[in-house]
Amino acid sequence: MINASNQIPEFTAFELRPLTGSLGAEILGTDLNGASDEDIAQVRMALDHYHVLAIRDQLLDPTAFHKLARRFGPFTGNPIHTPLDGFDDVVRFTREPDDRGKVIGENLHMDMAWMENPPAVTMLYGEVIPPVGGDTLFASLSAAYEGLSDTMQDLIRNLIGVHEGKGVFAVNAVHKSLGVRASAQAVEEIVAHHPLVCCHPTTGRPHLFLSGVLNRFVGMTEAESQPIISFLQSHAQRVEYACRLRWATGTLTMWSNTCLLHSAINDYPGQRRVVLRTTVAGSPPIAGS
Ligand code: SIN
Repeated sequence: MINASNQIPEFTAFELRPLTGSLGAEILGTDLNGASDEDIAQVRMALDHYHVLAIRDQLLDPTAFHKLARRFGPFTGNPIHTPLDGFDDVVRFTREPDDRGKVIGENLHMDMAWMENPPAVTMLYGEVIPPVGGDTLFASLSAAYEGLSDTMQDLIRNLIGVHEGKGVFAVNAVHKSLGVRASAQAVEEIVAHHPLVCCHPTTGRPHLFLSGVLNRFVGMTEAESQPIISFLQSHAQRVEYACRLRWATGTLTMWSNTCLLHSAINDYPGQRRVVLRTTVAGSPPIAGS
């Protein structure tokens, strides 16, 4: 549960409505274009506790989105996607009505887990959202860790995951509208090691560090690692650890990238969906439980 180990602070800068018992909150009644430093600090605090925020009714063009994002921290870099003209840190994900096949981000994943220091926060802004469909599904890796038995927690506590960029280029390159950089092929060679059990840098709350590109553990073969990985992946997808976020045009969504998995839901054929995206750097994953 969200508040099992953490005291939730009071928020005065906006109205906050929790979305589920495990993660996620809606924020209403604030215009982040004119936000004070105190407003930004309160949003950051809400994010640290709820891990996913849907901040409603924001009016952001790419410049305003860029300026707002950078108030939460520096850009992580993005070796995969070509940014919008005039920006280094903002990309646009577009799904046209006649696009077929998977939507961008359809498989449950963590953004750029193959980086040595993966994004602490991902921000997405809804420019065009279908009247129904196109939700994003989130799975709390904190609730999933807390839901394991003590024995299982002890068993996995010191494992180090090997997260590989292999296959990432192909997954992105199928989306013609994405503008995947030619240099993105280099990501195929990247391998990053992250502790399987980490703790949140601000709240100290433990979480699993799973991703769609976790293939084995250090010192173990893939055959030895895969049963543990597949158990943890399916455990993390239990409905009580999930939150399904309904978008609207003007919704700004932020998530604590390493504390959850997410997937874009492919249920709006024939409709257009356009979002802006950027990522925010934070401290590298911290081992802990
Ligand atoms: C993503 O995986 O970053 C995209 C999620 C979405 O479009 O809902």
